[in-house]
Amino acid sequence: MSKRHQGPRGTFDILPSEDPARERVARVAREILGRARYGRIETPAFEDTELFERGVGEATDIVRKEMFSFEDLGGRSVTLRPEGTAPICRAYVEHGMHKLAAPVKLWYLGPFFRYEAPQSGRFRQFNQIGAEAIGSESPLVDAEVIMLLRDLLDELGVPGVELRLGSLGSPESRAAYREELRDHLRAHEDELSADVRERIESNPLRAFDSDHPGTRTVMAGAPTMLERLDDADAGHFEAVRRLLDDGGVPYRVDGTLVRGLDYYTRTVFEFTCDRLGAQSGIGGGGRYDRLIEQIGGPPTPAIGWAVGVERILLALAEGEAPAARSDAFVVAGDPAQRERAMAIVTELRHAGLSADLDLADRGVKGQMKQADRAGARLAVILDEDGSILVRDMESGEQRPVDPARLVEEIGPPTG
Ligand code: HAM
Repeated sequence: MSKRHQGPRGTFDILPSEDPARERVARVAREILGRARYGRIETPAFEDTELFERGVGEATDIVRKEMFSFEDLGGRSVTLRPEGTAPICRAYVEHGMHKLAAPVKLWYLGPFFRYEAPQSGRFRQFNQIGAEAIGSESPLVDAEVIMLLRDLLDELGVPGVELRLGSLGSPESRAAYREELRDHLRAHEDELSADVRERIESNPLRAFDSDHPGTRTVMAGAPTMLERLDDADAGHFEAVRRLLDDGGVPYRVDGTLVRGLDYYTRTVFEFTCDRLGAQSGIGGGGRYDRLIEQIGGPPTPAIGWAVGVERILLALAEGEAPAARSDAFVVAGDPAQRERAMAIVTELRHAGLSADLDLADRGVKGQMKQADRAGARLAVILDEDGSILVRDMESGEQRPVDPARLVEEIGPPTG
């Protein structure tokens, strides 16, 4: 997320100094999800546009105005993936994963693309870690996935996190609720933002996400889906709540939580972080019990989440780390020793040590300066007569060593 960036708007470079913080996030995710027996899956960076139109929903912001879609040279419309759930469902169907023991537990980490107005924490190319558990409608799975995301944020040390929990019921009960909500919106039409007014028909629930003051007032008096759940959906929600209570997971029930993707059914949740400013959502997800059927697979309940890697890093205020120290910098004390320096560096690297040498024809002084800049623990100085001196870069102490015992003299890797 380098600030000195000149690439396309809303994108960023990841510099070597920023890599350790990212690596830590990826490692902790792999550990936590691996222990819960989630297997890593990666799908392509682009898909047929139709997958997102059908999966994510034509009336969503993502499909209406945030997709990087283009025609390929064969005349097919393809889209850089804006999210990972629809592609994973496609892969689940294509690979016949319904034949595996349910639920099939998958996780992923990679780049996603949305044409959104760039701001802090909102990019046009960003990275998500996600988890999907496919094939079970047990509330135990809802609790498992929610707890795994909480564990991930906890283990990484993300401060100021809150969990919001809601339920969107089934598409059938939601259809009746939508009608009721439309009536409420129509009754207050002049107080709504133009955007919300335009979508009373196609996507009335999105009005809950508006930050337009008039709309907010109208929505404060609106009925919520949570108040209209049928018995089965209400029972499922109660069971999820009980499991979270038993697991000591704090949450806030929020009937206004609707999320920006159309595929959700029953449980929805979102973790917010108070260090993130306007883009406070750090990760979220929910059940999508109809999605797989919708894209051509067998009826298959499922649930999952995704969390933004850049939002995690912003919340941790972690960016640059000091460059890692190396074990040795090999200095050719005489130009004739350069080739031998290369051979010694190779020998040290093969022995598992991190080692470097001058590759730009510097004099001895310049090479010592490089050794210092590279953060080397030791300088290995090759003299013209074939002898070797090892210099401790911190203390300045210098001692001759037997070339045949160089690896042992250097000692174990710094790590
Ligand atoms: P989402 O809420 O759209 O859900 O995205 C998940 C997370 O990705 C967000 O909480 C945020 O941290 C990050 N994110 C989204 N857009 C951006 C952006 N423009 N810049 C930076 N970070 C961003 C989904 O994508 C669903 N597929 C989650 C899911 C999985 N639901 C079920 N399974």
